[in-house]
Amino acid sequence: MTQRKSFETEIEAVDDTAVPRDMAPSLGDLWSRRTILKGLGAAGLFATTSTSLVALGACDKPAARGFNFKELARGVDQTHHVAEGYDADILIRWGDAVLVDAPAFDPQNQTADGQRRQFGYNNDYVGFVPLPYGSGASDHGLLCVNHEYTNADLMFPDLTDAMAASAEQVDVLMAAHGGTIVEIGRDAGGKWRPVPGGAYNRRITALDTEIEIAGPAAGHDRLRTAADPKGKRVIGTVNNCAGGVTPWGTYLMAEENVNIYFAGTLPDGHPEEANYKRMGIPGDKMGWARFHDRFDIGKEPNEANRFGWVVEVDPLDPAAAPRKHTALGRFKHEGCENAATKDGRLAIYMGDDQQFEYLYKFVSAAKFDTKDRAANRGLLDEGTLYVARFEQDGTGIWRPLVHGQNGLDASHGFASQADVLIEARRAADILGATPLDRPEDVQPDPLTQRIYVALTNNAKRTADKVDSVNSRAKNLWGQIVEIAPEDGDHGSERFSWTLLVACGDPAKPDVKAQWNEATTGDGWFACPDNLAVDGKGRLWVATDQGEKWSETSGAADGIFALQTDGNGRGTARRFFRVPVGAEMCGPCFTPDSTTLFVAVQHPAADGTEDFEGFRRASTFNDPATRWPDFAADMPPRPSVLAIREKKGGLIGG
Ligand code: FEO
Ligand code: CA
Ligand code: CA
Repeated sequence: MTQRKSFETEIEAVDDTAVPRDMAPSLGDLWSRRTILKGLGAAGLFATTSTSLVALGACDKPAARGFNFKELARGVDQTHHVAEGYDADILIRWGDAVLVDAPAFDPQNQTADGQRRQFGYNNDYVGFVPLPYGSGASDHGLLCVNHEYTNADLMFPDLTDAMAASAEQVDVLMAAHGGTIVEIGRDAGGKWRPVPGGAYNRRITALDTEIEIAGPAAGHDRLRTAADPKGKRVIGTVNNCAGGVTPWGTYLMAEENVNIYFAGTLPDGHPEEANYKRMGIPGDKMGWARFHDRFDIGKEPNEANRFGWVVEVDPLDPAAAPRKHTALGRFKHEGCENAATKDGRLAIYMGDDQQFEYLYKFVSAAKFDTKDRAANRGLLDEGTLYVARFEQDGTGIWRPLVHGQNGLDASHGFASQADVLIEARRAADILGATPLDRPEDVQPDPLTQRIYVALTNNAKRTADKVDSVNSRAKNLWGQIVEIAPEDGDHGSERFSWTLLVACGDPAKPDVKAQWNEATTGDGWFACPDNLAVDGKGRLWVATDQGEKWSETSGAADGIFALQTDGNGRGTARRFFRVPVGAEMCGPCFTPDSTTLFVAVQHPAADGTEDFEGFRRASTFNDPATRWPDFAADMPPRPSVLAIREKKGGLIGG
């Protein structure tokens, strides 16, 4: 990797807020310079769409929802930073006690049994379920946190390669995966704290949590293994990236890059060959198959069909087995945020995070019931999975993945709905879905019913594959798409769409970024990933630039406020930034929007070779930062923080 120029030079180059930024050339008819500069808002942006959608934008649009905080300066260093006037306090760290009998965290002497009682690694999605259930409380609740994956070289002394981890270390790594449910509350001083021994506290792991397989593919031959001849129970969940909380207070965990856990070779001519190739199986990056045969596809060919699903957990019932919902399809699920249809069913939006993959939604067959929680137990077992096709005129359709329709039949190798769901990607190909630039989090705005889709980047897109939703070749910076369901109904099979922003440096014409001209040199960002909408319907964006951060923005990942309406539409402001090597995950608001929980994932990992302008390995023994403890005997620790305005006001003003 090339040595980067001094960081100070880059600050000087972009911190030129006094000069209005000229907008980059138009990306197409749907997003003209006039539209952005005049800030026409929803009605103008949907000018090419149906009458009903124009009406949605014009009539249901609340007053412009701006932000009122002094934005944070760009930069990167060994710690986190938040905008002036706010506190960002560590709430829980990797290794902190979750169960009452957890041992004190001792990084030199880790055990799987200890880790399965402690907070796991690489916190990603964060959800908040108020306590008591249905209270809407903003000072007491259950924090639901995904632990996506592990960085073994930052977790154990003298281990620089996950593939060299010992059997005991692999079990620790498996126990550090999954999720945590931990009761939290605000103390007498107003600070958020975990509640030790909370009755609902629970760890879900890849090592030992028994999970039920539910829905149309449950029990199918392709999900049966030697350990589970009925195809209905699986141990563990992996690569839980983003997620969601349902209206009845269950926690959804999305399994994303499940391919990296599998090794080995399928027997010659095995029928899963094409299926596994499409999912990148075996990805073989974690080393688990050396000690656990089920992760070797040569020894247990069907195990990989039991991963790549959405898992539902009831945080209010620690004894209930989580359920993998096969009705929601098998792919690399980023997240699963949801919204109600006009007739009271549940729509769940899901990105498949890989270059040229698709955007999906599931709509339940039945209505949900927030009063009778038990009545929703089977709700996600029956419904319709759709995939998005974006038309170039700003409209789009959701195409149903239903066996027997539109070629999803024996002629293409689908014998049943289970086959369609197990190979959802291949079914979506046949339906003419639109390949996107890494679709990650998808966030509905409950005030307008619009949906925001983060497309993170796609360096592999070539000029001949550019279209109006994926508008740039060699796209290192990503974009955010705004979707308006027809008639504001998440049950509709039609929508209109437009680009909200095209990310990257607005001062570099070659980047062809698109921001509101009010966006400053500190405010713009690259590689949108997780999204959240606060109680005022304002959009917040978390970024994930990965190892290429010095090329994409030259500053740390963070949280950015992004205005979606009024004259300020398309204006971004920096609010929070992570320490070196970390990724920003999990923005989550309390119901009153006075607390924002954020997750700092893998501090001291990605791209630290560019930190401070010199190549630099970063390991447990010599990490690029020892955030958040900064103690000589403590490694960097992924952690969740609670952000509050110093006087308790709304986050973002
Ligand atoms: Fe796990 Fe797509 O980030
Ligand atoms: Ca993500
Ligand atoms: Ca989200």
